[in-house]
Amino acid sequence: MEKPLILSIESSCDDTSAAVLSGDRILSNVIASQKVHEQYGGVVPELASRAHQQNIVPVVDAALVNAGVDRRAVSAVAFTRGPGLLGSLMVGVSFAKGFAQSLGIPLIEVNHLQAHVLSHFIKENDESVVPQFPFICLLVSGGHTQILLLRSHFDMEVLGQTIDDAAGEAIDKAAKIMDLGYPGGPVIDRLARDGNADAFHFATPHIPGNDYSFSGIKTSFLYFLRDRLAEDPDFIAKNKADLCASIQQCIVGFLVKKLEKAVKETGVKQVAIAGGVSANSLLRSEVERLGRRRKLQVFIPKFQFCTDNAAMVGIAGYFKYLKGDFADIALPPYARAGNGLAEG
Ligand code: KG4
Ligand code: ZN
Repeated sequence: MEKPLILSIESSCDDTSAAVLSGDRILSNVIASQKVHEQYGGVVPELASRAHQQNIVPVVDAALVNAGVDRRAVSAVAFTRGPGLLGSLMVGVSFAKGFAQSLGIPLIEVNHLQAHVLSHFIKENDESVVPQFPFICLLVSGGHTQILLLRSHFDMEVLGQTIDDAAGEAIDKAAKIMDLGYPGGPVIDRLARDGNADAFHFATPHIPGNDYSFSGIKTSFLYFLRDRLAEDPDFIAKNKADLCASIQQCIVGFLVKKLEKAVKETGVKQVAIAGGVSANSLLRSEVERLGRRRKLQVFIPKFQFCTDNAAMVGIAGYFKYLKGDFADIALPPYARAGNGLAEG
């Protein structure tokens, strides 16, 4: 079979992205991030969908041009159906439907979380190494934290997950408490490099099994700062790097501890990380260390595939294309779906 050319579209949150893949090979991946939310300290849904509407045509155009692909050569259009912000999803979903219908080509719906995990199968060249089944993936995005066992591309068993906040949410909240701006994850990562991770200690909760909980860590960070600020109003300014390093170590340490437990229990020899928080430099180096300690093959995504991007939607779409798993034109987007991984 000739390799299909898949145009993919991601618009679930605040990044408008389009990519073109030839089979599992990436030809282009264009991402337009929305700056408008910074001044509000978080994503404003209405502004996000308006920005998607402005971005979608030029972003798709750039993806096709960068790939050197004429739109009439596209075999199918893959789009993120959910979970995410409904107004944002609606822009990508509507565009994908219009594009596919105008060319008479199939549509493929993609679950955003499955796409993050499947980003490990994107090939950039002949040397690209992809995971073998079964493997474990720690999925850490802004809204989800899950340890998954993959038996095949779409067979993802949830071994553990957060019972409250996501790790990314906890990091963003810690940054907000320190007034570091949004999204706080990358800022904490950068400032932490000059800090002492043992300067302050924040306790992690004892949660049974492979599950996580991050809301207590966030609260203890908040109360700790409230007490210190009462003694010294400049406490945050004077200790910023140490605070960032300490809270980052606490959250990353917890993530890796449960990941190691799951690896031990399953005996699986390949481990991957995915989602926005997998861009974190401490998490990346700690997972590498875990790999050396337990003799595992470790898969750390390139930065461009950690945070939201359409290439991951394209690879998930490609595997569905091979199965002939196409979507109906009437399909609506969904904001939430079961444990996040279930398809609506
Ligand atoms: O996967 P993603 O781009 O969007 C969702 O699907 O939610 O993840 C966004 C999350 C945010 O919480 C952001 O702060 C976090 O990923 N993030 C990071 C880093 N880069 C992005 N967290 C820690 N360190 C980073 N370098
Ligand atoms: Zn995401």
